[in-house]
Amino acid sequence: MSNGSETGGLTENKQSIRGNWGSRMGFILAATGSAIGLGNIWKFPYITGVYGGAAFVLVYLVCVVIVGLPLMMAELIIGRRSKKNPVGAFKALHKPRSPWQATGWLGVASGFVILSFYSVVAGWAMAYIFKSLAGFSGTGQQIQSQFGTLVAHPSASIMWHTIFMVLCIGIVIGGVQRGIERWSKILMPTLFAILLALMAYGVFYTHGGPRALEFLFKPDFSKLSAEAVLSALGHAFFTLSLGMGAMLTYGSYMRRDESITRDAITVSALDTIIALIAGVAIYSLVFNFDMDPAAGPGLIFQTLPVLFAETGPWVSVPFFILLTFAALTSGISLLEVVVAYFIDERGWSRKKTTLILGTAIYLFGLLSAIASLTIPFRGRDQGFFDVFDFISTNYMLPVGGFLTCLFAAWVMKESDRVAEFGSRGPLYKGLIFVLRYVTPVAVFIVLLHGLELLPFMDY
Ligand code: TRP
Repeated sequence: MSNGSETGGLTENKQSIRGNWGSRMGFILAATGSAIGLGNIWKFPYITGVYGGAAFVLVYLVCVVIVGLPLMMAELIIGRRSKKNPVGAFKALHKPRSPWQATGWLGVASGFVILSFYSVVAGWAMAYIFKSLAGFSGTGQQIQSQFGTLVAHPSASIMWHTIFMVLCIGIVIGGVQRGIERWSKILMPTLFAILLALMAYGVFYTHGGPRALEFLFKPDFSKLSAEAVLSALGHAFFTLSLGMGAMLTYGSYMRRDESITRDAITVSALDTIIALIAGVAIYSLVFNFDMDPAAGPGLIFQTLPVLFAETGPWVSVPFFILLTFAALTSGISLLEVVVAYFIDERGWSRKKTTLILGTAIYLFGLLSAIASLTIPFRGRDQGFFDVFDFISTNYMLPVGGFLTCLFAAWVMKESDRVAEFGSRGPLYKGLIFVLRYVTPVAVFIVLLHGLELLPFMDY
């Protein structure tokens, strides 16, 4: 039951069946909820540590502005113009059998794959709420090894993965306003409050505050490598939920009278500010106890718990609740992309779609939850978790982002773009210029790096 052939807007009646946001605030909170996730609280702090601090942060900020923001605007423009899921959107704005709909397919597939392993990490965050309640004790080594035990223990990982997927399904089944928007309005303000409290604690109650601020904000460019620049670019992409139609789908529920420019700036700014605040909170603790900032992916689940043994549960419990809430609002946006496709293009009911697809993603996620399952990938045996993470971050999202960008800049009708942007002024001209010549080049470089094809890098 494809109705992708009609161009442009649908009737009001049809829109209300699809759903839309109740208010601008609802959209902003849901979209920041999608953007703010494990990428901000887990990944950003650890990669900043690995790449040496402030210089990396600065490059990342530039990437958000020249790659992230324009691409987010492109997705919102495509979404709101078509009022469709990613597949339907490309058809509606081009033509019924358009090859561009493959971009939408890729997006829906990315949502499926990313959520399947994202849910496993989110599950670890939930497990750590309870570990925190019990308190961390023992030697540093013993505390650090708890993480390995959790990961290696399929029944524990599977149980938390199950709970997380049930929560995502439960929220998305409620619909755009009564599910996603309502929960974003509860979870996001709580998240902001917890994070501000943790930052205040880090800066005012530990001795690590000044060193943390210096580490994050006083650049030393001698530490900057090409690898760091490429990671900053890739991360700008991931953290803003771009390249797979998540913002496109959320944009399709937006009201016509809101400024896309203003909203995209607000969402990108909030996402960036939250990542920086999380960095300050985490590094204040890390430096207070003289730990290694370059610990890598284990920073949150291994290094921090050792410190939490000193601070007590009243710091660690809120921290892991924060991580869980951040993951949950991102998880629902990943699920919503997949669900929107089946609702719009196949005419399924929201309830049926959410239950069936949510279950399918859950089952697929079991592969990632069972750490002992491995497949040969890039020359060695790897767990499914790493394989899916690698494929989606390095191949699927950059390809999706690249194509979305080309579509918005070169294929979409000028009149469609202008109608959503709201003017043809210098700002609009600037955006189109960047989308044509800057963003795609940057994204293409990330892709080449993901494929290990950049001539000047050692792979
Ligand atoms: N942006 C989220 C984070 O920072 C992850 C995420 C949610 C995402 N939806 C996405 C990433 C869509 C890419 C595409 O953790």
